[in-house]
Amino acid sequence: MKRILFLLTALSASTPLLAADGATLYKRCAACHLPTGAGVPGAYPALSNDFLTLAKKPAGRRYLALVVIKGVSGPITVGGKPFRGVMPAQMLNDADTAAVLNHVGTVVAKGGKGFKAFTEAEVKAARASGAALSAAQIGALHAASGGK
Ligand code: HEC
Repeated sequence: MKRILFLLTALSASTPLLAADGATLYKRCAACHLPTGAGVPGAYPALSNDFLTLAKKPAGRRYLALVVIKGVSGPITVGGKPFRGVMPAQMLNDADTAAVLNHVGTVVAKGGKGFKAFTEAEVKAARASGAALSAAQIGALHAASGGK
């Protein structure tokens, strides 16, 4: 019995280490969007004000989740600058997708208290509702959900 209790304690103590780490996951995004999220004009959009504006509305949040889940291809206009590239799908599970979006919202785009965290359930719903969409169709959601 003592041994089982010890094992249970050890398991619960190690759970936080297994939880999705948005900062670590963001390293893959930084290869294109840069560590600061500043992006590269004409190639990689900044993860900044447009991200935070989109994150305020349900349609924009669905778009942001789908960009990470399935990728996106333009044309899209972000921060007044045109982009006609392709972002590949990121192959992350729902929890990791939420974690990396939350890292962008809080640390990269510095959304402060106005940023509402993404949940795993929200990402799951976006994945299900957008299953049939192509990267180009996700790009078309950008302007339709208030991105500019
Ligand atoms: C291989 C390069 C690359 C990687 C890696 C990448 N992206 Fe992108 N991302 C792009 C490109 C290119 C676009 C714009 C597509 C276009 O030109 O239409 C984009 C667009 C976006 C947008 C839409 C921005 C807006 O305001 O509409 C978000 C959000 C985004 N990326 C987040 C991420 C996150 C989070 C990660 C990491 C999990 C990531 N990206 C990884 C290249 C990349």
